[in-house]
Amino acid sequence: MKIVPFEMERWQSTWENSVEYNLSESGVQPIPLRELLRDAVAIERFLDHPLAYSQGNGTPELRSLIAGMYRGATPDHILVTNGSSEANLLALWHLVEPGDEVVVMLPNYMETWGLVQIFGGKVKPLRLREDLRWQFEPDELAGLVTRKTKAIAVCNPDNPTGAVMGHAQRKAVVDAARDAYAWLLSDEVYIGSEREGPRTESLWGGYEKTLITNGLSKAYGLPGLRIGWLAGPPETIATLWGYHDYTTLTPTYLSDRLAQIAVAPKRREEIFARTRSILRRNYVVVSSWIADHGALFSHIPPTAGAICFLRYALRINSSDLARRLLKERSTLIVPGDHFGMDGFIRIGMGDAHGYLTKGLARIDALLGELKAEKGTR
Ligand SMILES: Cc1ncc(COP(=O)(O)O)c(C=O)c1O
Repeated sequence: MKIVPFEMERWQSTWENSVEYNLSESGVQPIPLRELLRDAVAIERFLDHPLAYSQGNGTPELRSLIAGMYRGATPDHILVTNGSSEANLLALWHLVEPGDEVVVMLPNYMETWGLVQIFGGKVKPLRLREDLRWQFEPDELAGLVTRKTKAIAVCNPDNPTGAVMGHAQRKAVVDAARDAYAWLLSDEVYIGSEREGPRTESLWGGYEKTLITNGLSKAYGLPGLRIGWLAGPPETIATLWGYHDYTTLTPTYLSDRLAQIAVAPKRREEIFARTRSILRRNYVVVSSWIADHGALFSHIPPTAGAICFLRYALRINSSDLARRLLKERSTLIVPGDHFGMDGFIRIGMGDAHGYLTKGLARIDALLGELKAEKGTR
């Protein structure tokens, strides 16, 4: 089986740990293990855990805590996975048969876009529009859904735009899925990373054929735990567990136990507050940096996520720009090309204040050269 390259992940996996400034990340500064465990007794207890296989679908304790986030859900509605990326993989591996159509909200993380094609499906793009502040036009969705629609895949809040789906769009998605009796697949890994406004509401509970994917990598600042999950109807979750037997078998024993600490309701709120304060502090830095560049950049302020999706006015392709930044300034960002959107770049803003400002200064140095060499549009 041939795969569709996952361009952004190839780019990040190859360079993120060797550049001097990595501004390609979409999450906040990860929480150190010591900070997560907090007290000496917990640290000591943690050291006694065996490095054993863990419960394949997640421990009952962890599934029960996760189920608590979804109204009416029980541990049987939850499957714990290795990252939300594995959750998306299991869902689409199961759902997509050759010839199926899947409506995919774009731009997004692009995993679902690639997987649908790998499994022989056809992607029907549902475009987020800059002129609508990165919302889609609800009428457009109705026109994309046909008898062959197997699923509608959304990402809310969205990566790379940081937009949260509006009320009319949420209703349109649920109605369209129900009308076509298609699955609704909602990647909600950025819930809890709202810089502004209320917590984004999950699409859980509006329609019976809904699968939610989520995990600890973004809003929780715990990407190294590699903990994600699926929430869905128990019989579908049981089926998906069978797919998990062929991928990674179990979540890591230690990660499952650490995840139990992070998702406990009180701690979860503390972690989300930490995330919000990092985003608020850093967006001040990034937005004033953007303003300093006048008409060179334009952007719709992101509501959630540690990401800024910027339109730029330089006469250079986004991959060329990102490559030059990498090679000449040892700084990593994500080119719009990775989302099928040349003319944009995605900048991560979740890191420490000093690191972020130094990384932005590296971008400035290149921008100065590019303006002189290429001119602006
Ligand atoms: C929307 C979205 N879904 C899923 C993932 C995968 O995250 P993980 O597997 O670390 O949970 C990412 C990572 O950037 C993402 O942006």
